[in-house]
Amino acid sequence: MSKLFVVFGATGQQGGALVNYILNHPDFSKQFRLRGVTRNASSNAAKELNEKGVEVVEADMDQPETLPAAVAGAYGYLVWKKASAAVEIAQGKAVADAAIAAGVSLFIWSSLPSVTKMTGGKVTTVHHFDSKAEVEDYIRGLPFHSSVFFMPGWFMQNVWNPLAPKPKILKDGRVLSGFAWSPETKLPLIDINDTGKYLAPALRDPVKYNGCRLTAATAFYTAKEQVDTWSAVSGKEVIIPKEEDIPLLTSDPIQQKLARPGTLLEEWGYYGPTGEKDLYWTHNQLDEKLTTWKEFLESNGPWFVE
Ligand SMILES: NC(=O)c1ccc[n+]([C@@H]2O[C@H](COP(=O)([O-])OP(=O)(O)OC[C@H]3O[C@@H](n4cnc5c(N)ncnc54)[C@H](OP(=O)(O)O)[C@@H]3O)[C@@H](O)[C@H]2O)c1
Repeated sequence: MSKLFVVFGATGQQGGALVNYILNHPDFSKQFRLRGVTRNASSNAAKELNEKGVEVVEADMDQPETLPAAVAGAYGYLVWKKASAAVEIAQGKAVADAAIAAGVSLFIWSSLPSVTKMTGGKVTTVHHFDSKAEVEDYIRGLPFHSSVFFMPGWFMQNVWNPLAPKPKILKDGRVLSGFAWSPETKLPLIDINDTGKYLAPALRDPVKYNGCRLTAATAFYTAKEQVDTWSAVSGKEVIIPKEEDIPLLTSDPIQQKLARPGTLLEEWGYYGPTGEKDLYWTHNQLDEKLTTWKEFLESNGPWFVE
């Protein structure tokens, strides 16, 4: 009898990628059957899931009373979401509580480090990292047989993220990339479609990975490496904008704020001082090839076509 895995966020990027991974995997597809949770089972994304053979159920993490039915009978349980910090904390705790009540044994939480703790209180404004870390601490205090923490890097797919500043083609044909990072700033890049490759160890051996963080990125790429590869793949010269170029990229104040170099990335690093060591450890647990930035760009072009 296969075990039931419940995926919150199955209609989104991370959850959807994990669903596809399990459905296409020679062993996991036999070991697990999938239930995808959505707020709207009539959406196109939910219908597509259903057509792939995923059971689709409606529930809302903002309404804890809808959660027990969504998790009933589950062995494993995975959560991704997109919300403000306070909402995310409430949602995360509510789904963890529902999972404990349902007797779920493996709980996977899409987490990130606490920037406030990692910087000794010097950077306290990265709320969407801190909120995930707070939920992680809460989950660690619950009696799951195994809780595992997926720590995704910067999505390569952010090149299409509507919240992020878009690259701008200049009159001279060069292209300003979206972020005014200094050339040596390093970013851990993940093709989010690789999500399942990082979670495979936890699916295979939950007890071994109990309490572990799976740091999820193909590699750390400097901003200069990113634009140089983008230039080589696109055939256009892609350059890093200077701070004074930001108004050329976007007039949206939120996007302008995102485009500016931030203290976290420039001074501390996305995962903090242990990031490279943690990534090395995670890579040693994996047995599948990860998608490089170059491969991602090659398979998603053409780029900068007007
Ligand atoms: N972009 C990055 O570089 C990056 C890096 C690290 C971490 N993250 C984190 O990744 C998260 C977003 O993940 P994603 O991009 O995979 O998500 P996404 O594609 O935006 O999808 C969000 C998913 O969450 C579900 N959802 C939202 N609110 C819900 C609720 N109240 N109850 C039940 N389900 C709900 C949605 O389902 P329905 O709409 O079908 O209900 C959808 O499946 C954010 O927390 C972000 O901070 C992003």
